[in-house]
Amino acid sequence: MNSDLVDNFSRTISYLRLSLTDRCNLRCRYCMPEDIKGGLQVLRHEDLLRYEELLRIVNIVVKMGMNKIRLTGGEPLVRKGVMDFIDALSHIDGLEEIRLTTNGVLLHEKAKGLYNAGIRKLNISLDSMRPDRFKAIAGVDLFHKVWQGIETAEKIGFDVKINVVAMKGVNDDEFVDFARLAVERPFQVRFIEFMPVGNDSTWDKATYISSSDLEDIVGEMGELEPLAGRRMDGPARVYSLQMKNGQTGEVGFISPISHHFCDTCNRLRLTSAGRLRACLLHDREADLKSLLRNGASDKELQELIRQTILDKPKGHTLADDQANCSGQMSRIGG
Ligand code: GTP
Ligand code: 5AD
Ligand code: SF4
Repeated sequence: MNSDLVDNFSRTISYLRLSLTDRCNLRCRYCMPEDIKGGLQVLRHEDLLRYEELLRIVNIVVKMGMNKIRLTGGEPLVRKGVMDFIDALSHIDGLEEIRLTTNGVLLHEKAKGLYNAGIRKLNISLDSMRPDRFKAIAGVDLFHKVWQGIETAEKIGFDVKINVVAMKGVNDDEFVDFARLAVERPFQVRFIEFMPVGNDSTWDKATYISSSDLEDIVGEMGELEPLAGRRMDGPARVYSLQMKNGQTGEVGFISPISHHFCDTCNRLRLTSAGRLRACLLHDREADLKSLLRNGASDKELQELIRQTILDKPKGHTLADDQANCSGQMSRIGG
């Protein structure tokens, strides 16, 4: 591993999250609600990095030693030309894994193409399995479309993780249904603590539920056994859930607030506005796009990436100060 990837706290930053667009075909309450204060602001097309620019950056980070990319959004599959872009990414030597986080709306149509381009792992966001509630959370009546996408992904053979943002008074009566889904289907279901991200966040203390409370709720259903060797799978603590009838499933808990995982963080982000962001929950960003568009050499771009890695904050400080995260989730990509 190239030492250019090691930060000031001895973490190796081997994983880039690339937000392809800040646009989305849903309007989740916690991310980009329709009635957001001041109206919904989205980037102009020319403010996004072009695919050639993104490929150049990915080639540079892979030469620096990074081996994993996750495509995020907004919703990455709404960007025109995304399938050709993924195909081009799949030809980059040394890039071992391309993963995708999606809301699933376009998955039924695009799953085959994604598989053919070499993607094997999908994280799919789903906060409710009740169509009326799905609409209330996501703003659009598309539960059945998402569910069809999830089933298609399963049939094709993807490794599927379902992301559930846990919200008290919103979807807490479905946690057991989600845990049962993990038992009945080959999906790892991950419960995520609701994070206050962005100035217009709808986060509040009353809606937040900690992962220890989540573990208690899911633990009522059966035995939760930490999965040996996979205790930390990315940010998730992963368990096998053994039901009283002997069936098992995999569940994960992502607890950025109650048990943050900053000490083992291996991520760098490139926002859809073309800015390098070393921490989801820290607003410090480096303007990669301007450097790129001012004719920078690969070496100069590499130096900015190196510097951003070096400057990666030790961790977030949400507990004591929320002011350091005003960035918009839909631009950063989660
Ligand atoms: P893999 O580790 O590649 O499986 O991905 P992931 O689970 O990190 O990706 P995903 O996009 O599914 O994110 C799941 C949840 O974890 C989302 O709510 C993200 O916002 C959150 N998350 C991912 N990375 C970080 C991180 O570095 N810090 C914090 N605080 N949250 C993160
Ligand atoms: N808190 C926790 N998770 C969030 N996500 C989006 N906004 C938040 C938030 N405020 C999740 C999405 C998606 C992933 C990229 O991040 O549901 O699964
Ligand atoms: Fe879209 Fe994802 Fe944001 Fe929901 S969380 S509005 S699916 S980008």
